[in-house]
This record gives sequence, structure tokens and C-alpha cells, in this order.
Amino acid sequence: MKEAAEFGLNKTPTQLNPAMTQSMLEGCKEFPPHAEDTAMDAFTMRKLYIENSEQLGAVPLPSTFKGAVSTGVQAIKGNSPSVLIDKLGERLAFERSGVRLYDALITKCKSAEPVLDVSVLEQFRDNEAEHFALVRDCIVSMGGDPTAQTPCADASGVAAMGLMQVLNDPRSTIPQCVGAILMAELADVSAWELLIELVNEAGLSEYVARFEEAKDLEERHMQTIKDWLQSLTLSNEARAVG
Ligand SMILES: [Fe+2]
Ligand SMILES: [Fe+2]
Repeated sequence: MKEAAEFGLNKTPTQLNPAMTQSMLEGCKEFPPHAEDTAMDAFTMRKLYIENSEQLGAVPLPSTFKGAVSTGVQAIKGNSPSVLIDKLGERLAFERSGVRLYDALITKCKSAEPVLDVSVLEQFRDNEAEHFALVRDCIVSMGGDPTAQTPCADASGVAAMGLMQVLNDPRSTIPQCVGAILMAELADVSAWELLIELVNEAGLSEYVARFEEAKDLEERHMQTIKDWLQSLTLSNEARAVG
């Protein structure tokens, strides 16, 4: 298992071959990125796509809004119920991604000399799964369908794809994977903070405290992962941290 990048052959620096770099720069002048025969520059083309595109889908209407209020289904207050549903969908998708990220890191750790405490990783993975279940229950309590992919769920899923690729790349090192997970945990903490505000505004009081607990746990995840990354990066030798 590769633990730290070492000096070796890297063909990407332009200083490796000044003559070829000079030719490339001269070639760029002759054949600039905006080819002469392109009718439209990149800005105009992107602007056109943006102006003519639709949104990333719509937020599904919960049954409470359709008048199909069943026993136990709560009414949603606040000014932006669609934002709340959208953000709950996003949290649901991201917590599920969190389980997969930790699963990938656990696999990587079990395939190598132990440099991280796998039992802690398993605990964090289970926390993400519990948070997924908590958000699912909240959506159901409002008459929503947790299987729906909301627009924000779509966007955050796309954003997390890069993190997943780092974790699942067999060549990536444990510190590189821990760095990717730190990005997810930082996003997690701020997303829970926002969600607590939204749930509070919506009058879903029973979920405010439970979401606060989730946020506290996410803060612990983030701090632990951050400490691990520091420890792994600042030490020359792979060593057990927990
Ligand atoms: Fe999470
Ligand atoms: Fe987390």
C-alpha cells in the first residue's frame, strides 16, 4: 500500500523540456483555443445553454400538501416548504454517499497495514447510516417520498462523485482518501446547521433536537478526520492513529 508520495519521474512539469514548451507556446499563438472558424466563443455558448436549460428537476409535493393528511403526518409551516423538502432530499443523498465513502476507506484500510483505527471508521459509517434513516423518517413524517431525488440531491450527488472516485481509485493513498472524506465532513457539518434552521422554521420541533445531535456527531467526525489527516501528513512513517 502506498502511504506517501515519493520523488520519481513526473512528466507534467513544462520545465522538463524548455524547447518543446516554447514550441507549444508558439503553436498556441498560431492555433489559439478559440479557433478562427468557431462561430461562437465559450462564454456566449455557455450563456445560451444556461438561458435555454430547464432546472435539475422539481421538488415532489408531499401528501400533506395534497390534502391527503393521514394519522401522524405533520403539517409544514414556514415560507419555504419546497426548500425544506429539497434540502432534506439532499441530506438523504449525502448521508447515503457518506456510508459509501466510509465503506471504501474501510476496505482500503483493511487491505493494508493499519494506519487508522478501523473500528472508529466503522462507527462513523454507522452514524452516517443512522443519519440517513433519521432524514428518511423526517421526510415520511411530512408525507414525503424518501425515494424521490430532489434537485439539490442531484446537485450534491454530482459534487460527491469526485470524492467517490478518489476513494475508489486503487492507487489513492490513505491520506488522500482521508482528505477527500474531510471535504465531505466539512460540507456535512454546515449542511446540518442549515437544515436545523429550516426544520425549526417549519415547526418540526421533534426533529430539531435530533438534528442537533446529528450535527454534533458530524462535528466529531470532522474533527477526528481533520486530526488524522494532520497526523498522517506530518509524520514520515505510517502509524496507528485513533
Ligand atoms: Fe453525514
Ligand atoms: Fe459524518
